[in-house]
Amino acid sequence: MNLPVDLPLNQPVAQDLTGRVALVTGANTGIGRITARELARRGAEVFLATRSLARTQPALDEIAQLTGRPGAHWLELDLADFASVRACAQRFLASGRPLHLLVNNAGLGGQRGLSRDGLELTFGVNHMGHFLLTQLLRERLVASAPARVVTVASRAHQWAPGLDWAELRRPTRSLTGIREYMVSKLANVLFSAELGRQLAGSGVSSYAVHPGVVDTEIWRQVPRLLRPLLKLRGLRDPEQGAQTTLYCALQAPQHETGCYYADSALKTPSKLAQDQRLAAELWRFSEQILS
Ligand SMILES: NC(=O)c1ccc[n+]([C@@H]2O[C@H](COP(=O)([O-])OP(=O)(O)OC[C@H]3O[C@@H](n4cnc5c(N)ncnc54)[C@H](OP(=O)(O)O)[C@@H]3O)[C@@H](O)[C@H]2O)c1
Repeated sequence: MNLPVDLPLNQPVAQDLTGRVALVTGANTGIGRITARELARRGAEVFLATRSLARTQPALDEIAQLTGRPGAHWLELDLADFASVRACAQRFLASGRPLHLLVNNAGLGGQRGLSRDGLELTFGVNHMGHFLLTQLLRERLVASAPARVVTVASRAHQWAPGLDWAELRRPTRSLTGIREYMVSKLANVLFSAELGRQLAGSGVSSYAVHPGVVDTEIWRQVPRLLRPLLKLRGLRDPEQGAQTTLYCALQAPQHETGCYYADSALKTPSKLAQDQRLAAELWRFSEQILS
């Protein structure tokens, strides 16, 4: 039976996540903010991992107001900086809490540059930061099983030309940063599938998500003149945009681990995204960077 994941705010929630612990990256705004709020509303203890407490306070306040209890915590996390990712994971692990749900949601698009550790900026944040975070929390996830990892990817992965290992170590090349965004989202889908394979039988399942085209701050770099084009593509509000993440966090069958979802249903990702050898190669490359 499908449980409703898009309950109106004024309705009581049926699903009880009391005793469950979740960590959501990029939870101060957009899809991540709604995801964190909805998990907290169902009783989960939620950690909001973001770059700025000031920008996260409204989300923390909203959760406290809706749930009538503090129940949500802030963790500092800059995914463009391995030291920050390590400190964030360390702080979470030191809390002694189990971890039942990790939502790798944060992401940027249309920006150019290099991460603190010398990677193409979008790849560094969208893939490498989350790769490291997941690796550091992996043991805790396994110890807390049944547990889930949901990685917010994008349908844009299907236009990625492939993974050019040398280019991933250089500053953003394209003028718009859009090609690099597609590449980072291909990496998200490959990572999620490989994680699912590696954790098979552990009780930890892994899902990659396309949330739809959602009206969030991710489009802040898109010139205003082009924004009406997004509307033509059926722009969703963040509440709608969080539904597939919540579906994978709460309901998707465990045996569908490693799969890719859109509109709360299984979808087939691109051919490249299904390439197990490429996924294994990306994993080795990511490990090499960290070593
Ligand atoms: N919106 C869409 O149409 C769409 C479509 C497909 C996929 N997605 C994916 O959905 C996910 C959520 O995006 P959204 O649409 O909700 O966008 P958003 O409103 O821009 O939220 C993105 C979040 O990522 C955080 N972030 C960016 N760089 C970071 C860094 N270096 N370290 C830590 N956090 C960082 C942002 O923090 P700050 O507020 O501090 O910048 C923000 O919390 C992303 O992975 C995105 O690629 C979105």
